[in-house]
Amino acid sequence: MANQIADQPLASPVQPEADRIRQLFDRIAPQYDQLNQDLSLGLHRVWKQMAVRWSGAEAGDHALDLCCGSGDLALLLARQVGETGQVIGADFAVEQLAIAAQRNPHLQARLSWIESDALDLPFENSEFDAVTMAYGLRNLTDIPQGLSELHRVVKPGAKVAILDFHTPTNPLVRQFQQWYLANIVVPTAERFGLSEEYAYISPSVDRFPSGSRQVDLAKAAGFTEAIHYPIAGGMMGVLVATKGQTESQIRG
Ligand SMILES: C[S@@+](CC[C@H](N)C(=O)[O-])C[C@H]1O[C@@H](n2cnc3c(N)ncnc32)[C@H](O)[C@@H]1O
Repeated sequence: MANQIADQPLASPVQPEADRIRQLFDRIAPQYDQLNQDLSLGLHRVWKQMAVRWSGAEAGDHALDLCCGSGDLALLLARQVGETGQVIGADFAVEQLAIAAQRNPHLQARLSWIESDALDLPFENSEFDAVTMAYGLRNLTDIPQGLSELHRVVKPGAKVAILDFHTPTNPLVRQFQQWYLANIVVPTAERFGLSEEYAYISPSVDRFPSGSRQVDLAKAAGFTEAIHYPIAGGMMGVLVATKGQTESQIRG
């Protein structure tokens, strides 16, 4: 499938906060990959690979990576579904999508990059065999609506795996996380000339629902099973939510 980055701006009535988030990610697109690599000491790729595994994506699948940014996780997913599979990377920041479309040319034939709003996805009901999202849910202006859209587009019996920051329950690890955000993330972002842009991470982590709350929200959105796996000492987590099977799937 060809790359499909729409050239029209999104028509949906996006609120000013969503506009601010989209502009921020468009602005930081050129430095985004290198910064992620430096800030996580490369570990973000390991965590993203865990999300791919937990999504249950298999060879030949039609999979979605939502809030794909510059395409890191979508590229891992494309490797997982193989030559017979297809992956859509969806995001509302076109500058991020433009970078994603330039990476790993040998994998691009199995990828499509689609400009879209996670709160109003342009996909059919029950379209995808597996869905992933990394560091996207925390940035949505309406998390329940985002989960509801994820539930709508994934097939019955299939999974979504959502990687994001998490507030550790251990107070020492929490202190370390706060120290890391203040003393490593912000100064590193400063070196890239992006201190203002990266000041958003700490408050967004504070506001983000805990793992158990994420499980409740996923169930409220319609998922029949949801488990939150804390990783990296609880500083990160992966929410894995499964859409209930249809009657005929259950009867086999
Ligand atoms: C922190 S970045 C993560 C990018 C990528 N998944 C990664 O892990 O490198 C968050 C992404 O979510 C996107 N995003 C936030 N809100 C969105 C929305 N409502 N619809 C589509 N994309 C959104 C941003 O444009 C940004 O690219």
